[in-house]
Amino acid sequence: YPKKDFVGKKILITAGPTREPIDPVRYISNRSSGKMGFAFAQAASLRGAQVRLIAGPTGLRTPYMVERIDVETTEEMFKSVIDNFEFCDILVMAAAVSDFKVDQRYTKKIKKKNNLELNLISNPDILKEVNLLKKNQIVIGFAAETENLSTNANKKLVEKKLDYIVANKIHETGFPFGSENNEVLILSSSGDYYELNSTKINIANFILDIIKEKI
Ligand code: C5P
Repeated sequence: YPKKDFVGKKILITAGPTREPIDPVRYISNRSSGKMGFAFAQAASLRGAQVRLIAGPTGLRTPYMVERIDVETTEEMFKSVIDNFEFCDILVMAAAVSDFKVDQRYTKKIKKKNNLELNLISNPDILKEVNLLKKNQIVIGFAAETENLSTNANKKLVEKKLDYIVANKIHETGFPFGSENNEVLILSSSGDYYELNSTKINIANFILDIIKEKI
């Protein structure tokens, strides 16, 4: 990207899934590949921003000039976001955070049996905590939805007090997980509405274009 229009701006980005261990061998997670958040990190860095990327487990390579912090669980991502929030002008929560964790993690591998009950308890809501610390940062949330995309997105925009929400339409095939492309609705707290069907890199650059005016 030729424009260096984010020089001097600090962007904190989360990407990928989080992983909640069941025992030393198994975990609960989701299909997030991390590609949207990594594309965002790459786009912002090429436009001159100082980027910190908090990444859940993915096989992706760190984009050029991006400072990366690897985490595994939601609890670790939560701590890292809180520790780094003051650093940023913009927070992009592209990670697919696991809402639940196993209540009592097994220290030994669970043996094969006919029945296994796991008690799941809720994880902290990162964005809720971020709200308590918010000064004048721009906060962008993501939402993956299989139905009622705009209604659900709007609800999250309001409830999580976000400046923007980027809502992904999840298809039955699993698209856009793992894809280079994405189909999104972008809503802002001031009533802007955009619909985009493009590459994850183009979508990241589009979002940077619209927030540039606000910082
Ligand atoms: O999971 P949900 O669709 O509610 O996620 C919406 C936004 O909230 C996403 O940006 C996600 O990163 C964030 N989130 C969070 N803490 C959670 C779950 C989701 O900050 N425990």
